[in-house]
Formats: sequence, structure tokens, C-alpha cells
Amino acid sequence: MLYLNGRFCRAEDAMISALDRGCLFGDGVYEVIPVYSRNPFRLDEHLARLDASLAAISLPNPHTPLQWAELVREVIRLQAYDDQSVYLHVTRGNAGERDFPFPAGVAPTVLINPSPLVTPSPEAKAKGVRAISHADFRWLRCDIKSLNLLPTVLLREAAKQQGCAECLMFRDGMLSEGAASNVFVVKQGVIACPPKNHLILPGITYDLVIELARQHGVPMEVRPVTEAEVRNADELWMTSSTREVLAIVELDGQAVGDGCVGPMARQLDQYYQDFKRTVMRAGKE
Ligand code: PDD
Repeated sequence: MLYLNGRFCRAEDAMISALDRGCLFGDGVYEVIPVYSRNPFRLDEHLARLDASLAAISLPNPHTPLQWAELVREVIRLQAYDDQSVYLHVTRGNAGERDFPFPAGVAPTVLINPSPLVTPSPEAKAKGVRAISHADFRWLRCDIKSLNLLPTVLLREAAKQQGCAECLMFRDGMLSEGAASNVFVVKQGVIACPPKNHLILPGITYDLVIELARQHGVPMEVRPVTEAEVRNADELWMTSSTREVLAIVELDGQAVGDGCVGPMARQLDQYYQDFKRTVMRAGKE
């Protein structure tokens, strides 16, 4: 069951117009909320990021945070499974014609679409995963969680073709992020990750990993990271709501560090898993 424009229905009954601006132009934004034991994690933060994305594309938010929270909780309740990825999509709706400027008086399309939460397999956790890299050819507003996901589609397909789980991106010699994740490097026991700005998505998992590192007194620097640092790192990890903290052990065919999941990745993942068990599953955030 999902939610579309005011009603809850089965996926096969959820129809939108072929002229929806989401289809024609990718004119919309989205969110992904991980749900553990039916408790949405950091719902307020996800709704705030959705609001920021909507504001950035001048699309009025169709719902208050309270209304969104009620809809999300109802969608969660309607599923047969406890751990979920809940996708929120808002497009600029169906104007009945194909014209680029904003249409007047058109209702946005709102879709809340859940699926079972798939986190990395125990094998991926234990052995790490491989990644490729590519120039970051996206636009200059990567802080907006835009429905224009063609770069992500192309880069993730390229990664998949090479048996890799992610594609890291560099812009002007600096690390930006993964195609659908944030990226952390470790050198000599110090973690570093790029600061939040218009070049990366402000990840909710990124925030949590930084919080956990600081809470446990692990050295952590938020600062620009060069491509050379990434290529010479002792450890590399990606973070996202679905990937959690996942070690990258090979980049472009070269081993990262000694080619195994490093001690810092294991440690931070342990903090993350403890937090998930005691806080997220308990619905405390
Ligand atoms: N992607 N950067 C990009 C470009 C992303 O698409 C994502 C998440 C992240 C991590 O954000 P968070 O920690 O809030 O999940 C960073 C989601 C999982 C997706 O598009 O499916």
C-alpha cells in the first residue's frame, strides 16, 4: 500500500498523468526515510530536508510537518513488514501541457512509496565493497534532493557493470560524495569528510556518523578532502540511510589501505549498530 494525492492505495492502482512534470522534467524533489521496527528514524530532520529541497525549487510545501508525519506513520502502519525505506516524492504536478515555466494553480503530486529496507549483507559488511570513481558532472545544487537522478542512474550503472557498489565523484580535484551516499576517509586514525555545502547532499546518516565519532572521542575533521587523500587513504567508507556505514576496500581496481575493512570502519559501524538497536528501533529519535 502506498499514498498518492490524498488516498492510500495499492501500487498497481496508483496512477499519475503522463503529463506530470515529474515525468516530463524531473521537476520535483524526494526524501528517503529509513524505518526500523516501524519507527521512522529522524523524521523531523528528513522532513526539514524535504522542506529545504522544496523551498530551493520554489515549490510550496503541500503539507505541514504534522500532516507529513501522520501520512508517513499511516503508510508505515499499512505495510506487512517492520523495517522499511519510505520514499516521499513531490512534483510540480500535472499542468496538462508541456511548458517549462511554473504553471499557475496546479496541485503538486505527492507520493509516499514504501519498500522493505535493504541494508548491506553480512558479507558486504565483513569484506567491504568495491567502488569506481568519476568526474562529478552533476549540477551545482547537489544539496537539493532532486528527482533529476540521471547522473546517479548512469554512474551506478557504470559501477554495476564493473562489479562495484558505488561511484565516488570528484570535482576540481576535490571529493564531493558517492552517487547515492556521502563519503568518509581515514588517515592515521583521523576521519575526514567534506563539509555540507551546495556540492553534496546533507546526509542524515552523515550527521549521525559525525555525532557518533565525536561522542566517542574519535578524531573527526569536517573539511575539504582532496582526490589525492582519497586515493591514499587508509580507509574509505560510504554512508547513507540504506548503506549505513559501509567500507570501500577497492577504488578503481586499487586496494584501499590493506584492502580489508579497517578498524575505524568496524568501530564506527559498531557504534551505528548499537545506536540502531538502542535508539532507532526503540523509536527514541
Ligand atoms: N540517497 N548523497 C546522495 C547523492 C544521496 O543520494 C544520498 C542518499 C546520500 C546520503 O543521505 P542519507 O544519509 O540521508 O541517506 C548522500 C538515498 C539513500 C537514495 O537516493 O535512495
